[in-house]
Amino acid sequence: MRIPVQTKQNNLSNYEEMAANFDWKEVESVFTWSKTGKVNEAYEAIDRHVHEGKGDQLALLYSDANREERYTYRQMMEKSNQFGSVLRRIGITKGDRVFIFLPRTPEFYFSFLGIVKIGAIAGPLFEAFMEDAVRDRLDNSEAIALVTNKELLKRVQTDQLPHLKHIILVDGPDEEREGYYNFQEEMDKSPTTLDIEWMDREDPMLIHYTSGSTGKPKGVIHVHNAMIQHYQTGKWVLDLQEGDTYWCTADPGWVTGTSYGIFAPWLNGVTNVVRGGRFSPDDWYQTISKNKVTVWYSAPTSFRMLMAAGDELVSKYDLSSVRHILSVGEPLNPEVVRWGLKVYQKRIHDNWWMTETGGILIANYPQMEIKPGSMGKPFPGIQAAILDDEGNELPPYQMGNLAIKTPWPSMMRSIWKNPEKYREYFSFTGWYISGDTAYRDEDGYFWFQGRIDDVINTSGERVGPFEVESKLVEHPAVAEAGVIGKPDPVRGQIIKAFIALRDGYKPSDELKEEIRLFVRHGLAAHAAPREIEFKDKLPKTRSGKIMRRVLKAWELGLPTGDLSTMED
Ligand code: WTA
Repeated sequence: MRIPVQTKQNNLSNYEEMAANFDWKEVESVFTWSKTGKVNEAYEAIDRHVHEGKGDQLALLYSDANREERYTYRQMMEKSNQFGSVLRRIGITKGDRVFIFLPRTPEFYFSFLGIVKIGAIAGPLFEAFMEDAVRDRLDNSEAIALVTNKELLKRVQTDQLPHLKHIILVDGPDEEREGYYNFQEEMDKSPTTLDIEWMDREDPMLIHYTSGSTGKPKGVIHVHNAMIQHYQTGKWVLDLQEGDTYWCTADPGWVTGTSYGIFAPWLNGVTNVVRGGRFSPDDWYQTISKNKVTVWYSAPTSFRMLMAAGDELVSKYDLSSVRHILSVGEPLNPEVVRWGLKVYQKRIHDNWWMTETGGILIANYPQMEIKPGSMGKPFPGIQAAILDDEGNELPPYQMGNLAIKTPWPSMMRSIWKNPEKYREYFSFTGWYISGDTAYRDEDGYFWFQGRIDDVINTSGERVGPFEVESKLVEHPAVAEAGVIGKPDPVRGQIIKAFIALRDGYKPSDELKEEIRLFVRHGLAAHAAPREIEFKDKLPKTRSGKIMRRVLKAWELGLPTGDLSTMED
């Protein structure tokens, strides 16, 4: 089935021709640095518009249950300049890691931009992280400063973080304490102008921690040069045009919330909606109708939950402002695309990318036919292929490794303090290996098939089984644990843990709940297993590695395959 084109109103008017002739260099003339040689992505996203006479245009429309605020591009410039000054006064310099652990409030965005403007590396942390998750990230990155609030600070084990010298609190501190600062007081002391730190295009700007199937989360480093891709994908995939009011529902603790919740909209000079608080179908529809959102970027899990909330609800709201809808993060079910067409009278455009890729690489464009279930076609300037395990390109319809020809502007440039991990992505010369499997059809559309590793995608959030297993075995009752993703109609996958108990512990529902809460309070709510099954013994290789593949086969009632490496 194909869903025909909905609008011709787009800059990418002829995909085939553009894909054949596009050169990233063409994009550079948009940016000030193409004339001045002075590079800084935050400057290009905010200040450039002020200098081009658009300072009074709305940049941020923020609301939550208690606050409703709007900021123009000029105000965003001034606030981020002030925050840059705050950091400089404290002694932060180029290359330092400064983390933000805050709900998505305006202070998050002022801080983020301020960090980037002085050439430091911004580390956004998801608000739901608990103690272990926060400590791992601050420790690995050797963060020197943190912007947070009093409530979240309780989850920061400052005594275990020798590098962390400065804590800036948006609602504190209650008494004077060395190394602690009050956000607003420091802002008030700071000028609204700033000497921007001019960077090399290849200088680090952002660190996002993400999960693999082994080891702790890894710090993916992005550089200022990513602006080229942020801008152009914003234009051609998000279809951002002058006058747009855009809403990206992702939290800036995840890459979608920075690349497409901060950079792409502001580089394109549109109004960016940020809605605080938790997901609720009513609240979301209200956010769209109240702000007259024109472009809406969300995730399959959210669309599935909206679908579950029913068609009736949709008719209670005026969603007629919406021109363009997009989805990322996990497979978008054809059923959801068809439902979207029915209730929103709009196509939901799936697109594919990863934390490591920094920006969209494969997409369904507004002016192209959609095949529901497909991620679309490579962005102009991007060469995607399906490779076999020897690195040979496969013909259409053969499933293999989804790979991208290196480099592209927003590609990660390193993994923090872990060059070996970085190299693992580039095992075939000239290619980035995504870890996803897919096939390409004869029309050049790509179809997602799965992960080659054990990484779990639950509600669009990437969770490494190893992190969860490590936390589980810290519980006194747990001898061994194996964690898998179990298919789920709404969340894509849920986390299921198989657990062997230590001697003296008896399986019970209470114990399950206790273990679940142990992970929830240690790591994060989304990392806690929704299902736990006790087993006398877990399948292991002779070298003692838990065979998640066998656990998965048990779960799905599939053949377990080759068991020759199993211990007995
Ligand atoms: C998955 C999120 C199917 C994929 C931007 C990828 C998808 C991982 C899609 C990256 C899609 C992302 N269809 N699966 N359209 N988009 N994924 O790093 O497995 O949080 O490798 O980045 O999500 O997740 P990450």
